[in-house]
Amino acid sequence: MMSALSNEIVYGIAMGSNTGDRLAHLQVAVAALGKLGAVTAVSPVYATEPVDCGPEAAEFLNAAAEVRSALTPAEMLDALRKIERASGRADRRPRNAPRALDLDILFADDLVIATPDLEIPHPRLGERRFVLRPMADLWAEKILPEKRLAVSALLAALPTGEADPRRFARLDLPRAAGETEARLAEFAALKPAGIKIVSLTAGDYPTARLLDESGVDLILVGDSLGMVVLGYADTVDVTLSEMLHHTRAVRRGVSRAPLVADLPYHTYLTPEAALFSARALVAAGADAVKLEGGVAVLAQVEAILADGIALVGHIGMLPQQVREEGGYKKKGRTPEQAERLLADAVALDRAGALAVVLEGMTATAADAITAAVRCPTIGIGSGPGCDGQILVTADLVGAFPWFRPPFAQARGDVAGQIREAARAFADHVRGENPA
Ligand code: KIV
Repeated sequence: MMSALSNEIVYGIAMGSNTGDRLAHLQVAVAALGKLGAVTAVSPVYATEPVDCGPEAAEFLNAAAEVRSALTPAEMLDALRKIERASGRADRRPRNAPRALDLDILFADDLVIATPDLEIPHPRLGERRFVLRPMADLWAEKILPEKRLAVSALLAALPTGEADPRRFARLDLPRAAGETEARLAEFAALKPAGIKIVSLTAGDYPTARLLDESGVDLILVGDSLGMVVLGYADTVDVTLSEMLHHTRAVRRGVSRAPLVADLPYHTYLTPEAALFSARALVAAGADAVKLEGGVAVLAQVEAILADGIALVGHIGMLPQQVREEGGYKKKGRTPEQAERLLADAVALDRAGALAVVLEGMTATAADAITAAVRCPTIGIGSGPGCDGQILVTADLVGAFPWFRPPFAQARGDVAGQIREAARAFADHVRGENPA
């Protein structure tokens, strides 16, 4: 039996991962499933004990997704294997080896299929807690073909004494097809229309939503959040997991502006690593990614762009280099430096960058780049001549009083207001000024 629209099948897909950044692998898988059809539901992610995997096996993360797709079951199986391979899983054998990603068809409408390559419903699903637990979140009442009991009853019938899967995280549904493209097209029209680009950073839902509602043209989940949100000394310690966590939060607050997320330090050393990190950020909700460097990271830039992911470059004073360079040093002061910066910008532009951030360089160098490239330049501490400007929002609103770069004018005093409100509340609680 086919579902509502006669050529669509409702698939139940099981997802598992027990190597690498397991949650990122699952989020990337959900995004990839979104390209095979409509992902209509995803279960919570559970941490589960390995089953039949040998004593050394690491804990798994498991989840399930419902996908409505026009693919036939054989085509779906083929597509799932491709997604597994893209995650770095070379081979499915041996069956219980550690794996970045495991995708299985649990059911396909009420179809029953038994071929050497494919059995539907999945033959072992009724025996496995790590499969039935997330299934019960999505299809508790469903009775699968050739099973007498509903999914919740199959789960309840498993032997007692087995470890219960532990709720670990939630996954977000992929964005609707065309949403990112529409946002990026609107952004790309600003420079040709002579409209200056206004860009600010966000690391949390309320800031992101307020910026989006204020009409900001581009919202960046910058790795500066390592300093102004997480309290690190610089951006070098920020991890991909942290960026994914904050990108997901920001995504929930942004419905209008393009959302760009930073690839953190050492997560794009090779084109393969860059692609993995970029896909994970996109799966977490980014419309585009940003990385630091020009000619030196061109292979990484090209790998990301070739995968259809929009990219913003970042050249000049590079915060991720602060330890190597022994401080934040202004760039473009010598003709050689200015020439190198121009070459970097031109290389990024020719590769197809959406925009290039010009940070901490002389206004002369920034102006020369802005005149030379097709894509918009977004300046920070690089003079007023760029196609737009970006600031770290904490600097703009005065939320981080312990350090503010000299070029960033605070237009608010959030730190002062927090201190004042905290003192007023303390007075009230302590009875000094009960109001
Ligand atoms: O991390 C960040 O916030 C940035 C901007 C300052 C451009 O990269």
